[in-house]
Amino acid sequence: MKTKAAVLWEVNAPWSVEEIELDAPGPGEVLVKIAASGMCHSDEHLTTGDLPFALPIVGGHEGAGVVEQVGEGVSWIAPGDHVVFGFIPSCGRCPSCSTGHQNLCDLGALMGLGLQISDGTSRHHAQGKDLTLMCMLGTFAHHTVVNEASCIKIEKDVPLDKACLLGCGVVTGWGSAVYAADVTPGDTVVVVGVGGIGANAIQGAKIAGAKRIVAIDPVEFKREKAMEFGATHTVSSMAEALPFLQELTWGTMANKVIMTMGVGDGQLMGEAMALAAKRGRVVVTNIHPAFEMGGANMSLLDLTLMEKQLVGSLFGSGNPRADIPKLLGMYREGQLDLDGLVTNTYTLDDINQGYQDMRDGKNIRGVLVYE
Ligand SMILES: NC(=O)c1ccc[n+]([C@@H]2O[C@H](COP(=O)([O-])OP(=O)(O)OC[C@H]3O[C@@H](n4cnc5c(N)ncnc54)[C@H](O)[C@@H]3O)[C@@H](O)[C@H]2O)c1
Ligand SMILES: [Zn+2]
Ligand SMILES: [Zn+2]
Repeated sequence: MKTKAAVLWEVNAPWSVEEIELDAPGPGEVLVKIAASGMCHSDEHLTTGDLPFALPIVGGHEGAGVVEQVGEGVSWIAPGDHVVFGFIPSCGRCPSCSTGHQNLCDLGALMGLGLQISDGTSRHHAQGKDLTLMCMLGTFAHHTVVNEASCIKIEKDVPLDKACLLGCGVVTGWGSAVYAADVTPGDTVVVVGVGGIGANAIQGAKIAGAKRIVAIDPVEFKREKAMEFGATHTVSSMAEALPFLQELTWGTMANKVIMTMGVGDGQLMGEAMALAAKRGRVVVTNIHPAFEMGGANMSLLDLTLMEKQLVGSLFGSGNPRADIPKLLGMYREGQLDLDGLVTNTYTLDDINQGYQDMRDGKNIRGVLVYE
């Protein structure tokens, strides 16, 4: 069949919205009519080359839609079912999946290639070439074919243009606070960068009982939004946060620091570590450029003497099959704000405007809506 997709043909180029050819789903695969896709900063890393995935690629990894057709052997989802895609597949059988770490599923190792999990080939084609898929999903398209391991079935009452956010940003941000940082009641928490990920780290920290949440962002609009999501204080840089936290905490500093900037910067790691308390934990969720020069600039003596902790977090260290339905349930009960995350919506044709608005600091999340 033919469908429409945003394809990246080379780095530092705009997304090319064009008609592509889509094959029928093979064994273990699912054809989905996508309803909406969030515009996460991780797709921007494809265009800058910070994430060096194989091109040409159909972008997008934060999507939700309706199943149209299933391939041979797919028994637990059927046409008409609503699904959110997990940006990491979860097979349920590998050591990570079977010990409660689906975010580290062994199938994630295939992500950089962006081909079908089943046989390493492509179902998406354009201009005589095979296309790869961001996170093996390709949600910047009206339809896609993905492996069943990437599909999480959801109830039909939640609007798909909100449910899509659970495929990456909401679980990643919320889990960065609740699971990776392990925020506990009374903590002082710092969130560095208030985009789609940081806004949800703030929501997670609040629900986990943080006493103070200090949000850092250079953009005034982001700092205002941070207060709506539950921040108690805002400042515009980590340099400004240092004396601010010293004053606020009587010198004890932050129990948890969560890094959710647009692009990670190793030269700033010393500043981030300096915001952490004794035994404080710094969580690195933001993506650093693959070929970042100079590594991390930080005091390892301070790490030891203050027993600080530095941890990475992927997909909020969560389990997509458990956490996506759980967080949708919290949205349904009014405990988690998804509506406020969506600043602007766009058609697929307007994707480059959407990313320009992200760069200009205008969006918590921009969402592509297809119907
Ligand atoms: N680890 C994971 O599983 C995972 C998943 C999704 C996204 N990410 C990464 O998380 C990061 C954030 O993604 P997003 O979609 O929220 O991005 P975004 O562009 O929507 O938001 C980033 C925010 O950081 C702010 N910022 C930039 N430099 C800053 C600085 N020096 N200090 C404070 N704030 C600063 C920006 O003003 C912006 O508001 C990206 O690197 C993305 O690739 C990681
Ligand atoms: Zn993402
Ligand atoms: Zn697995």
